[in-house]
Amino acid sequence: MKVFVLFVAVAVAAWQCHGADGDRDHGVDFQIFPLRMKSGLGGHYIPEISCQSWRLGVEAHNIIGFSSVPADCVGYIGNYLIGEQYRSDSKTVCREAYFYVKTLNITDRDAWVFDIDETTLSDLPYFADHGFGAEPFNSTAYNAWVYLGVAPALPESLKLYRKLVTLGIKIIFLTGRTQAQHEVTAANLKQAGYYKWEKLITKDTTIYNGKTALTYKSTERKKVEEEGYKIIGNIGDQWSDILGTNTGARTFKLPDPMYYLS
Ligand SMILES: *[C@@H]1O[C@H](CO)[C@@H](O)[C@H](O)[C@H]1NC(C)=O
Ligand SMILES: *[C@@H]1O[C@H](CO)[C@@H](O)[C@H](O)[C@H]1NC(C)=O
Ligand SMILES: [Mg+2]
Repeated sequence: MKVFVLFVAVAVAAWQCHGADGDRDHGVDFQIFPLRMKSGLGGHYIPEISCQSWRLGVEAHNIIGFSSVPADCVGYIGNYLIGEQYRSDSKTVCREAYFYVKTLNITDRDAWVFDIDETTLSDLPYFADHGFGAEPFNSTAYNAWVYLGVAPALPESLKLYRKLVTLGIKIIFLTGRTQAQHEVTAANLKQAGYYKWEKLITKDTTIYNGKTALTYKSTERKKVEEEGYKIIGNIGDQWSDILGTNTGARTFKLPDPMYYLS
């Protein structure tokens, strides 16, 4: 049956390619303009198209400051995150980071900054229970999840981490998690496979109360560089992880369509 369907699909595709204009190898024969927004070939409405545009807008930092995922897009975002695309996108980012590192001559002061949530550790088990970011953020419930200390690794980041450690690069975790969450975070990192690091910087809420993540992370990276480390790379899922000052020689942005931290 599958073979028959494939045969029909190939036959239809071949007819479409050569039906009207036999000597053309590429392209389509039907009229492309005007663009039929939010519709499929048959003209029917496809919500996934606007949700995909929304996700692209988030990743490109055109859509900022959103407090939750559009209700229409829960299914799309859930499928993105649980399916292959999120893993493939993450893999592309981490591979590029490794290709970059391989061009460098590493010294013993070279450091790499990793964010934690949705970068080294994944909170997907939590967000899967909370509409993949479509429910308003509940800090009580989220912190309870953090204190469980059972977040799995994002596998692509763990792979990158292992390669960087092997190359002798110093690992610095810089997270918006608070100092009260330091111990549970350290234990969670180890259990997920991140067995060593140079620094695990958690947020001192007496200093950074009311400050943005961008200010907090820039200030802490500056301190790290003042101590003599050279930040050769910096990876995170939020733009506030990689904008600001002392960002590192190169930055890498992992996907995160679920929430926005300024
Ligand atoms: C790395 O070191 C080699 C040998 O000293 C040198 O030829 C090369 O230019 C260096 N590369 C970088 C990116 O600094
Ligand atoms: C937030 O989560 C807590 C703990 O699960 C729950 O008791 C509370 O009702 C939630 N708040 C809202 C506004 O949903
Ligand atoms: Mg993060």
